[in-house]
Formats: sequence, C-alpha cells, structure tokens
Amino acid sequence: MTKPTIAVIGGTGAEGSGLAVRWAAAGYPVVIGSRSAEKAASAAAELSQPLPANSAPMTGAANGDAAAQADIVVLSVPYDAQVGTIEQIVTGCQGKTVITVGVPLKPPKVATVWHPPGGSAAQEAQAQLGEGVQVVAAFQNVAAGHLKDLSWQPTCDVLVTGDNKAAKQTAIELAQAAGFVAIDAGPLANASVVEGLTAVLIGINARNKVQGSGIRITGLPT
Ligand SMILES: NC(=O)c1ccc[n+]([C@@H]2O[C@H](COP(=O)([O-])OP(=O)(O)OC[C@H]3O[C@@H](n4cnc5c(N)ncnc54)[C@H](OP(=O)(O)O)[C@@H]3O)[C@@H](O)[C@H]2O)c1
Repeated sequence: MTKPTIAVIGGTGAEGSGLAVRWAAAGYPVVIGSRSAEKAASAAAELSQPLPANSAPMTGAANGDAAAQADIVVLSVPYDAQVGTIEQIVTGCQGKTVITVGVPLKPPKVATVWHPPGGSAAQEAQAQLGEGVQVVAAFQNVAAGHLKDLSWQPTCDVLVTGDNKAAKQTAIELAQAAGFVAIDAGPLANASVVEGLTAVLIGINARNKVQGSGIRITGLPT
C-alpha cells in the first residue's frame, strides 16, 4: 500500500531534516518545505544521498506548495517563526493532520519553562490553522543529534498530545516508523507540559555536559 506523503515544513533545519530522513527510509515520500524552493530542493537532494536504495523519494518545495502536496504536514520551525510560517501553509493544511514539533523558548533563559499566551505552541498553531485542521504535538523531547543516523536505536519516548484520536494515531504511527515508542499523552492542552519538559531537558543537558537527554515512560505493558 502506498504510504502517505509527509511535508516537513522547516525540514532544512536540525530537527525536521532528521525526522525527514527516518521517514523516507521507512518508505514515506517526503517533501522538504522551506521559505526558499531552491534551498528546499538542495536540502532534499543532500539528505537523500546517503539513504538506503529502497527509501521513498524526498523532494523539496516552498512551504506553501509543500503543505499542499502532502497528506500529513509536520511543522518544525523555531517558535518565533511559527505565526509567519503558518500564514504560508494554512491553505495547504486544510482537512489534514498537522504535527507540531515546536517548543516555545524564551532566550536567554532557554532552560526555564516558558508558556506562550495561547498556553502552548501547539494550541496557538491549532487556533491559527482553524477547525478544519487536526493539530497534534509530538517529538518535542527528541533531540536532533542522532536522528539522521539510521543505525541509532532511540532510547527516549515520544509523547503525543491532540484532541482528535485519528490524528493522534497518525502521529503515533509516524513516531513508530521513525523507531520510537510513542505514547498517547492526552489532549492538546497537555502539550504545554510536554513542550515545557524540553526546557527542563535543555538544563539537564547543560548540567551533565551532554546534548541529547530524553524521557522514557515506565510502567507500561511492553
Ligand atoms: N533541535 C532540536 O534538538 C530540537 C528538539 C526538539 C524540538 N525542537 C523544536 O523543533 C523546532 C525546529 O527546531 P530546529 O532546531 O530544527 O530549528 P532550526 O534548525 O533553527 O530551524 C528550522 C527551520 O526553520 C526555518 N526558520 C528558521 N528561522 C526562521 C525564521 N526566523 N523565520 C522563518 N523560518 C525560519 C528555517 O527554514 P528555511 O530557512 O529553509 O525556511 C530553518 O531551517 C523548534 O521549535 C525547536 O524548538 C528542536
């Protein structure tokens, strides 16, 4: 069966490019989205190069076109760029699941939890995208560092929050395809806690001189 096409908006960056590589390797066609169509195409070509031969194709497009071409849209841009980026993709996202990866951080205190006015980046994305879009938050606690290494076995979990069960299931399947244990962590309102955990992890990284601490939920049946 043909797998759905995933647009990774901000897929030229650290987190989005790593996820894109894992999804293409798992057989999902990927469109890398960027403010610049040329930058997207060149990132897609570069990221495709080391992929196994049976990987799905990876292409590039300007953000709006990338969203329009995809079945599922992943938003992976810095919080400060979220509103402007959503303006570019809002039309192409209608009727689709949008998975937000973004974490609101307030420099210079990036190791201190900060909640934006809408409660979380994910809830603000839902409000801006409108009721025709099912927003799910996932991957906030996954450091970009190892993602492009396909031999890396994730040792951290992905918490998935959202208000629509089917959209959440889509995100859970994508997290599993990328090699993670994915856990339904409740409604989109809970994204504020999951996003906040990333600030906690940034502080743990700094204090322990590591780059990729993560979280794992225990006590679940395997
Ligand atoms: N890095 C991590 O380890 C990590 C882990 C978990 C969650 N996150 C979250 O995931 C999101 C993406 O993180 P990242 O590290 O991949 O970010 P990034 O590399 O700094 O940026 C991702 C992409 O966003 C676009 N962008 C950057 N600044 C922009 C601006 N001012 N206006 C419009 N577009 C802009 C750029 O794409 P174009 O120039 O191609 O348009 C860039 O390649 C963030 O919200 C971050 O908090 C990151």
